[in-house]
Amino acid sequence: MAKLWGGRFTKGTDKAVEDFTSSIAFDARMYAEDIAGSKAHAKMLAKQGIISQTDCNDIVAGLTDIQKQIEAGTFDFSVALEDIHMNIEKRLTDAIGEAGGRLHTGRSRNDQCAVDLHMYVRKTVVHMGELLVNLQKALLEVAEKHQDIIMPGYTHLQRAQPVLFSHHMMAYFSMFQRDFDHLPLIYKHADVMPLGAGALAGTTYPIDQAYTQELLAFSKIYENSMDAVSDRDYVLEFLHFASTVMMHLSRLSEELIIWSSTEFGFVELDDAHCTGSSIMPQKKNPDVCELVRGKTGRIYGHLLGLLTTMKGLPLTYNKDMQEDKEGIFDAVDTLHFALSIMADMLRQMKVNGERTYAVLANDFSNATDMADYLAKKGVPFREAHAIVGEAVQHCIQNHCVLLDLTVEDFKKISPVFEADILEAITIEACVAGRKNYSGTAPECVARQRQVGAAQIEEE
Ligand code: ARG
Repeated sequence: MAKLWGGRFTKGTDKAVEDFTSSIAFDARMYAEDIAGSKAHAKMLAKQGIISQTDCNDIVAGLTDIQKQIEAGTFDFSVALEDIHMNIEKRLTDAIGEAGGRLHTGRSRNDQCAVDLHMYVRKTVVHMGELLVNLQKALLEVAEKHQDIIMPGYTHLQRAQPVLFSHHMMAYFSMFQRDFDHLPLIYKHADVMPLGAGALAGTTYPIDQAYTQELLAFSKIYENSMDAVSDRDYVLEFLHFASTVMMHLSRLSEELIIWSSTEFGFVELDDAHCTGSSIMPQKKNPDVCELVRGKTGRIYGHLLGLLTTMKGLPLTYNKDMQEDKEGIFDAVDTLHFALSIMADMLRQMKVNGERTYAVLANDFSNATDMADYLAKKGVPFREAHAIVGEAVQHCIQNHCVLLDLTVEDFKKISPVFEADILEAITIEACVAGRKNYSGTAPECVARQRQVGAAQIEEE
C-alpha cells in the first residue's frame, strides 16, 4: 500500500519492518481522540483561511463517517498504514479526495499522537476517579455493616492487639484516598495541548492555537513546542498512580487470601468471585485476589519500562516513544477490572465475626492492656512489660490465656492488681480503650467513617 510519506523512497517497506513498526494494533483505541483532534484542527485551519470552509466541512463530515464505521466494526485497519493517525487520514482522503490531503497542514504526527494521548489520559483520569470512589464506597459499606466485629490486629503477621474489622477496612479507605489525591495533578498535566508544536519547532502557517485549545477544552497550551512533543511525564505519572493503586489492591488481596483460608476462616468470598479446581473437588480458590496480586508486577513493569525508554532519549520525538501506549492501555484495563471486581467482592463477602472473636478469646492480644493496667497504677511501663511477659509465659506452660486467671492469680503476679483487672483486659475493653483520635475504639472508627463519607461526597 502506498505510504502517506512515500515520496522520497525508491522502494517499498520490508514486510517485517511494517509489522515491527506498526502501532495500529493498539493505538486504534485512540480513534475518538484522533478524530476529535483532527476536527478541531480542520476547523482552526478554516477559521484562519488556511483551508477553505468547504474543505473543512468535507473533512468534518468524512471524519464523522469514519467514526461511525469504526464504531460499527466495519473499518478495515491496515498494518501497512502504521498507526491510527494514518489509517484515518488515508481513509478520509480516499473518501473525500483532495480536501483530506489538506487536513495535515501545519501539523505533524508528533503533535497529533501527543494530543490524542493527552485527551485519552484526561478521560481516563476521570474514569479512574469514579472507580476509586466506588471502591471506597464499598469499603465504607462493609465497615458499617460489620461495625461490631472485632478481629485480631497483626504485626509481623503475629497477633498483636484486637481491632475493629471496620478499622482495618478504613485503613484501606485511607490508602485509596491518597491514590485519589494524585488524580488532579495527573489531570492537570494531561490537560495541556501539544497541538501547534508541529514536528518539533512550531509551524509557519498562521495557526490559532488558542482556538484549537478552546475546541478541545484544554486548560493550557504547551509553552515550548519541543517540550510538547517530547513530554511523556503525564503518562509516567499515571503509571506511578496505577502502580500504587495496584500495590494497595495487592495488599488487600493478600489479606483476603489469608483470611479466607480454612486456617483463618475470617471471611468467605462469594462463590461468584472464586473458582474451583479441575482435580480437587473441595477447592474454592480466591483467584481474583491472586490475579490482582499477580498483575501488580506487570503494572510496575510498565512504569519501569517507560521510565527506562525515556531516560536516554534526545529531544524531541523518537520512535521509541511509541512504546508509551501499550503499557498505559494495559494499566488502564487492569485497573478497571481490579478496582471494580474488588468493590463487588468486598460487598458480597461474608465476615465471620464469631471466628475472629474466638481467635482473640484464645490468645494474648490483651497483654499490652494488662501491662498498661499496671503502668496506669504507677508501675514503670518497662517493669509492667516484664511482669506481663512472665504471666504470658506462665499461661503458655499451663495451656491457658490471661483471661483464664483468677483475681487471686493476678494478685500473685503483682500486688498492684485489683478485682477490676478482669474487666480491664476483656477483648471489648481493649478495643474500647483505644479512643485517641486515630484509635480503634468504636466511636473513633465511626468518626473515621463519617470523615471518609464526607470526603467522597466532596469529590
Ligand atoms: N505511531 C506514532 C507514535 O505512537 C505516531 C507518531 C509518529 N511520528 C513519527 N514521526 N514517526 O508515537
